[in-house]
Amino acid sequence: MAQADRYTNLINTPLGRLVQKQVGLPAPVPLKRWSQGDTPVDGRVLLGGAPGGRLAGPLAKVVASLGADASTPLREDLRAAAAAAGLDAGPWTPAAAATQKYGAVVFDATGITEPAQLSELREFFGPTIRRVARCGRLVVLGTTPTETSSPSEQIAQRALEGFTRSAGKELKAGATAQLVYVAPGGEDQLESTLRFLLSTRSTYVDGQVIRVGAAGAVPAIDWDQPLAGKVALVTGASRGIGAAIAATLARDGAHVVGLDVPPLEGDLKAVTGAIGGSYLTADITADDAPTQIAEHLKREHGGVDIVVHNAGITRDKTLGRMDDARWDSVIAVNLAAVQRITDALIAGRRRAVLNADGRIVCVSSIAGIAGNFGQTNYGTSKAGVIGVVDAYAPLLARLGATINAVAPGFIETQMTAKIPFATREAGRRMNSLSQGGLPVDVAEAIGYFASPASGGVTGNTVRVCGQSLLGA
Ligand SMILES: NC(=O)c1ccc[n+]([C@@H]2O[C@H](COP(=O)([O-])OP(=O)(O)OC[C@H]3O[C@@H](n4cnc5c(N)ncnc54)[C@H](O)[C@@H]3O)[C@@H](O)[C@H]2O)c1
Repeated sequence: MAQADRYTNLINTPLGRLVQKQVGLPAPVPLKRWSQGDTPVDGRVLLGGAPGGRLAGPLAKVVASLGADASTPLREDLRAAAAAAGLDAGPWTPAAAATQKYGAVVFDATGITEPAQLSELREFFGPTIRRVARCGRLVVLGTTPTETSSPSEQIAQRALEGFTRSAGKELKAGATAQLVYVAPGGEDQLESTLRFLLSTRSTYVDGQVIRVGAAGAVPAIDWDQPLAGKVALVTGASRGIGAAIAATLARDGAHVVGLDVPPLEGDLKAVTGAIGGSYLTADITADDAPTQIAEHLKREHGGVDIVVHNAGITRDKTLGRMDDARWDSVIAVNLAAVQRITDALIAGRRRAVLNADGRIVCVSSIAGIAGNFGQTNYGTSKAGVIGVVDAYAPLLARLGATINAVAPGFIETQMTAKIPFATREAGRRMNSLSQGGLPVDVAEAIGYFASPASGGVTGNTVRVCGQSLLGA
């Protein structure tokens, strides 16, 4: 499944590299993807921070739990935080940076309370950005701008987005950059997000901002089987991204209930059978589908822990030629069904089919963020899906549950294989990683949101797009 496209394979041969350099073609590198038994971070971690930050301790604690080798600058506060977390961090100086490569470089920017202090970023990353390893990670940690204590701090923290996204565009060789905003009180919720972003599970997530907030105590979990004992519903599971989601959630320990339309029962049975799951056929737009799904989950499994709204369709036409059927079907499948099924699963609050600590993940699209030619219906539906996340996050928080969305960019599927060659090549290359993503890349982001350890992660829409130029 984890296959680079033909151009990427060609450009990574000696002759291909020569031609690429002479002609100035994009130079995608084969991305590393996670498989069972891999280390949580691929290489040494360099930890830095602005003076007065509040995340040095929690960060050092997570890195210690990853079992990674670490370095930190010769600043007393950072070294003390590392030592207190039991992290044996070797010293780092700008001179050391000239030789060492880092699997991850993480900077706690929460100490930055006014714009003048943003220069801390340049001072730290200036000598280190070129030391980020192939497929390495750059992560900046900040304070959620709306939760800061002064206008200057809010402005400075908001500025981190521009820094991180721009740094992401300067990274080479499959490396990525992300910003994590941690609200005051959310310091103990950082581990699942860092484990995802520092690992090869996030290989096609680039230039993203994730918000982590306060939540209940993080349960102790086996990080190799984070979804053990969980029941997950995946709609549109018989092929493409849905089949990858089903396989990934099952790999992480969940029992997957796959759902698809009755004509695809054979494919659905094969996909779910191969991963020890079960299935249910339904057209999610049917009037009785939400009740049928809720009753099935209650009867067969006593409820559901994870719901992935993945089923989706496209019916493209420019707006002047858009007929009722195209418009209505796309809104019905991609948006209305998501809301109706969610409502059915949370109805009755304490008696809801969605179990306590439930996780809902929606599949949006960059077309819902940037818009796309010929896709007014699809773009509307996928922006509406982000609206579902915004509207339901506070409702679900009261039930102790979360809701987030992934917004895939160009993913190599049967759907994108049908796009005409020139448009397809443009879509595939116009991102910081110069290649399309794979269905598993979307699935890994969903697995992160679905984790019992991600209780502080809600209301986010994370693009899985290799930092696509579209809607950037
Ligand atoms: N492929 C991409 O590049 C890409 C990019 C952005 C977003 N997405 C989104 O990712 C999701 C999966 O896309 P894919 O490329 O795997 O598509 P796909 O067409 O291969 O799979 C979609 C699945 O949804 C099912 N489905 C459609 N209508 C249904 C209905 N009424 N009831 C039940 N099931 C129904 C289909 O039968 C199919 O199995 C979709 O929501 C899509 O919009 C895909």
